[in-house]
Amino acid sequence: MKGVILAGGMGSRLHPLTKVTNKHLLPVYDKPMIYYPIETLVRGGIRDILIVTGGNSAGDFLKLLGNGKHFGLKHIHYTYQEGEGGIAEALSLAEDFSEGEKIVVVLGDNILEENITPYVERFEKQSSGARIFLKKVPDPKRFGVPVFQNKKIIRVVEKPRKPACSYAVAGLYMYDAKIFDIIKTLKPSERGELEISDVNNIYIRQSKLEYDILKGYWTDAGTFESLMLANVLAFKGQTKKKKK
Ligand code: G1P
Repeated sequence: MKGVILAGGMGSRLHPLTKVTNKHLLPVYDKPMIYYPIETLVRGGIRDILIVTGGNSAGDFLKLLGNGKHFGLKHIHYTYQEGEGGIAEALSLAEDFSEGEKIVVVLGDNILEENITPYVERFEKQSSGARIFLKKVPDPKRFGVPVFQNKKIIRVVEKPRKPACSYAVAGLYMYDAKIFDIIKTLKPSERGELEISDVNNIYIRQSKLEYDILKGYWTDAGTFESLMLANVLAFKGQTKKKKK
């Protein structure tokens, strides 16, 4: 399976921190933010990785990461997203890279504690479709939120005013190669973006979406509060590892 990290966007919710640099280059405890999704993939056994970047300081990713030697990689692929078309649009740039294989997608500002290997194995066994990951959060309104019926997800609502539950859809997704045809059918949302939740809703309508609930800590880092939390969790995570 191949991995895609989405690290574009203007990071406008973090102005002025992101006025002159890319959100994913900001520090989270002792590392640049982008290190975390790369480590998530590498720990999960994914070594063929594409980084989709854009906006400010795109060239700095190359300076920082090079060919991925720090992560034990021989090579990292890069591509550039113009403007802010949303997660699904950024993902469409991975079509050639994926070469018809299944892909694991991590949002560049998502910090995950868990080793995703068991999920990757589960998705390898899944004949087709998609797999998403949920985590209970205190503020589901900020995220994609599932609607359940008999333990099945019947819909994902992006940033609902009245969330149906307290689970957020985490920025870790697994898709079969059909995703690229699905993205071509999408229309921009109210915020003018091609939404990943719309992609997931199409898989749901085809009864092809499975999910797992994350056990370890998880947060995004795209707002001041969540960036602060990401720093605290990463610090605690490091301290826990050192004590072991
Ligand atoms: C995006 C997705 C949302 C998901 C979140 C996870 O939100 O649209 O469904 O729950 O990432 O980090 P955004 O960061 O674009 O607001």
